[in-house]
Parts: sequence; C-alpha cells; structure tokens
Amino acid sequence: LDEVPVIAIDGPSASGKGTIAQLVAKELEFHYLDSGALYRLVALKALQIGAAVSEENKLAEIAANLDVAFKDEQIFLDNMPVTDEIRTEECGLMASRLASYPLVRKFLVMRQRAFRQPPGLVADGRDMGSVIFPDALLKVFLTASAEMRAQRRYKQLIEKGMSANIHELQRDIQKRDQRDSNRGVAPLQQNADARLLDTTSLSILQAQNSVLEWYRECCASKRV
Ligand code: CDP
Ligand code: CDP
Repeated sequence: LDEVPVIAIDGPSASGKGTIAQLVAKELEFHYLDSGALYRLVALKALQIGAAVSEENKLAEIAANLDVAFKDEQIFLDNMPVTDEIRTEECGLMASRLASYPLVRKFLVMRQRAFRQPPGLVADGRDMGSVIFPDALLKVFLTASAEMRAQRRYKQLIEKGMSANIHELQRDIQKRDQRDSNRGVAPLQQNADARLLDTTSLSILQAQNSVLEWYRECCASKRV
C-alpha cells in the first residue's frame, strides 16, 4: 500500500483544508480522509458520556473503541448521524484538548492509515505529512489570516443554521491554533518538505487548482 499516492493537506482551523481536499479528491477520484473528524468524534463521545478532559486513559479508551462510519458524506457515531453535531466549536475545543494526549493519538494512527487505498488518498488535518503519511507524494500547508478564517467559519456555521458569535469564534480558533501548534506530540507546523498555500485572497477554485497543479508536477518528477 506504500505505493498508493497520498496528498497530505495540513493547516490551522478553517483554512479551507476540508473543502479543498474534498474537491481535489473528487477530481482525481481519490479517497478522502477528514482526520479532524476522528478527533471531533472522540470529543463528542467524551461529552456524551461525561468524560473529563483530564482523564487521558478514559479518552484513549474511547479512541481505541470508537464506532464510526463515513458514508456518502455523512458521519456516524454508534450508528447515529452526527455530521453537523461534531462541527460545533465546543467539539472543536474538546477535540483540540484531547488531541494533545499521545495515547489518544496512538490509537487513531492505524485507523487513519487504513484510508490509504488505491487509486490514492487526499488526507487533511494537522499531522498528515509529518506523522501519519510521512512519505506523501505531495505535502501542502494550507493557511489564511486569522480574521479571514474566523469569518469563513462564521459564515459556514450560520449557513448550517447553527448559532455563532464572530468574536467568540475568533478567540476560540486562536486558542485552538495555539494549543495545536505548541503541543509536544505531532504539533501543527509547516514541514520543510511542505508547500505553502495561503488562501487569504484565493478563491476555492484557485486553491484547488494550485494543489492539482503541484500534484501533477510531483507525478511528473517521480516518473523521470
Ligand atoms: O477544513 P478546514 O477547517 O481547514 O476549513 P473548511 O471547513 O474547508 O473551510 C472553511 C470555510 O472556508 C468553508 O465554508 C469554505 O467554503 C471556505 N473557504 C473559502 O471561502 N475560500 C477558500 N479559499 C477556502 C475555504
Ligand atoms: O475544521 P478545523 O480545522 O477547525 O478542525 P479539525 O480539522 O476538525 O480538527 C479539530 C481538532 O482536532 C484540531 O484543533 C486538532 O487539535 C485536532 N486534530 C489533530 O490534532 N490532528 C489532526 N490530524 C486533525 C485534527
């Protein structure tokens, strides 16, 4: 399976990773892994059963036994649809807290690597290029200004019919980025071998095309 090409897209919250990764996957007819959803699912389960943020072993147990399914762009936890439920900033913050535990991360590694199936995979998250798929054919570090990211997330939540406060969102996103970048295990950072794509003033189509162009370049240089 190491021959199966991977495009790794990492970056801070609401930089457009999911949107761009899904479009690129569709274009190439590749599989798609939303690794953040796994951390959000552990968070939702922890919130459901009242597990505290401090209980690393209990959270790791949840990660090890997570019953999830990704079907037709819908996400299920214990056979219940939770696609929108995991998108709240409450879940995002809880996810970011428990994602700093090495034991929690360890139990999610195999599950993520199992998505690497022919003809290829586009994976988005924080450590796709550094830890989960270090041999990815293309690594992209996707970012945008903090203001733009908060605005985009706000619009996204409102369009889903969820409530949101732009100031609180901006504060929460910053808090999460800071924790994700400074943790000891698998911190969010631009790898030396990742290409930087700043989408602050790029449309979704422009960002998608940059990634596709880079991917074709990588394929061509692999052939020679
Ligand atoms: O996955 P991640 O949290 O990085 O971001 P996302 O959920 O894919 O994108 C957040 C929002 O930004 C979505 O509503 C996208 O449609 C929007 N977006 C945009 O307006 N322009 C871009 N160049 C990229 C994303
Ligand atoms: O959509 P957004 O970028 O806001 O977040 P996400 O990708 O759904 O990830 C939620 C949280 O999970 C992040 O804040 C990270 O702390 C954690 N995460 C991680 O540690 N490693 C990953 N590969 C993906 C997410």
